[in-house]
Amino acid sequence: MTATSGGGRLVVDALKKDYELDGEAVPVVKEVTFTIEPGTFYSLLGPSGCGKTTTLRCVAGLERSDGGIISLDGRMLSTGTEHASPDKRDIGMVFQNYAIWPHMTVFANAVFPLQVGRAKLSKAEARKRAMEALELVQLDHLAQRPATALSGGQQQRLALARALAHRPRLLLLDEPLSNLDAKLRDTMRNELRSLQRTLGISALYVTHDQSEALSMSDRVAVMNQGRIVQEATPRELYDQPADRFVADFVGRANMVPAVVVERDGTGDAVVEALGTRLRTPVPDGVAAGDEVTMTFRPETVRWHETAVDRPNVLPVRIVRVEFLGEIVEYEAEVLATGGPVGTIVGRGAPLATPPEGGRVFLELAPRACRVLAA
Ligand SMILES: Nc1ncnc2c1ncn2[C@@H]1O[C@H](COP(=O)(O)OP(=O)(O)O)[C@@H](O)[C@H]1O
Ligand SMILES: [Mg+2]
Repeated sequence: MTATSGGGRLVVDALKKDYELDGEAVPVVKEVTFTIEPGTFYSLLGPSGCGKTTTLRCVAGLERSDGGIISLDGRMLSTGTEHASPDKRDIGMVFQNYAIWPHMTVFANAVFPLQVGRAKLSKAEARKRAMEALELVQLDHLAQRPATALSGGQQQRLALARALAHRPRLLLLDEPLSNLDAKLRDTMRNELRSLQRTLGISALYVTHDQSEALSMSDRVAVMNQGRIVQEATPRELYDQPADRFVADFVGRANMVPAVVVERDGTGDAVVEALGTRLRTPVPDGVAAGDEVTMTFRPETVRWHETAVDRPNVLPVRIVRVEFLGEIVEYEAEVLATGGPVGTIVGRGAPLATPPEGGRVFLELAPRACRVLAA
């Protein structure tokens, strides 16, 4: 299928954007730098208010950046002082709230943007491209329906068709699935991802939902307070979070204060934490005596009825067990002679649930532990 002209390469370098607040310039995007390679799916992931939408709107040309450059396939779109208009950027955009026109048919929604403005096409060409885009999202058989007769999922597919009808080199998506119910969201994730792959289009996806970002993206940039704090593949991000913020925002993480006792030559160390000595890998530059944070994921914690002769096994009392459907989450108080010395959250399959109130042992496999520098 040739509904796009392939994927573009987007370069965003030291992008800055300020908003005026009470006559003062408040920076909301602070030197954001990233590159989207042709045909890849790239996500900006971060909490509400961290500057994702503003970044996206600067790329689309809906906001004027205050510094840095934005280029697509080497063509300058924004320089901080000069800005190409949105309709000259070769970019398609899909928003959270569909933004379809209710008084038009499905077909009219798809064809209208192709018949107006500077991008205006001949009637025949516009019809051809609109139908092609509707086919891509499997709405061609509903072309003559009023747009309001579509379900939420279909309306979002229509918004996608409208963005694709221009055959853009880059697709921007701002939380496009958050108005859909959970089941449909999963289906649409797969549809969107497979369509993006089929077309070979580049995609910049904005979301606060970590499972969306992890499941769909080739690369993910985690944003916090206007900055990118880590950029990596989903797997790297999950397994090797750069700091406490990422460890906590992407998935769930136990974090306990620790002091490095000694490190060996292989990148492993013994730390004092949770009232005992534990083995964990440590990053370069961390030395004996350093105060650090040790982190491990709840799903890597294993529980045992009796002590096992392996490293990092702690006596605990289970204080809470919560059934979450496909998994069970539990909270344990780590026991020491002087009393509890901390809590650990674990997760596991519902078949093997630790007994609430019971005294058991938790194993924190050293390979599943990490140390974050202060
Ligand atoms: N038009 C605007 N005027 C002033 N402040 C804004 C405007 N749009 C967004 N902001 C502020 O900029 C920050 C980033 O917003 P936004 O980019 O929408 O974040 P996100 O999409 O990550 O939730 C927020 O603090 C928000 O309140
Ligand atoms: Mg937003």
